[in-house]
Amino acid sequence: MYVCVCEAVTTHQISATIAQGANTFKALRDQLGVGSCCGKCSKDVRNQLRQECSGNGQGCACAGNA
Ligand code: FES
Repeated sequence: MYVCVCEAVTTHQISATIAQGANTFKALRDQLGVGSCCGKCSKDVRNQLRQECSGNGQGCACAGNA
């Protein structure tokens, strides 16, 4: 499912990028372009980051940055 229509980014791509260590919204924006155009996807991206980052056991930086 597309989360960011502007940059054609899917939930799967976001999950994969989080799994590779992107644990801030800024990291996802820099790597995938999410939130860099209209910004409408930002809330959904932050929600997905919060959910997945807190469950991956890698130490989550998203609380202060998401
Ligand atoms: S939907 Fe993501 S920047 Fe527009």
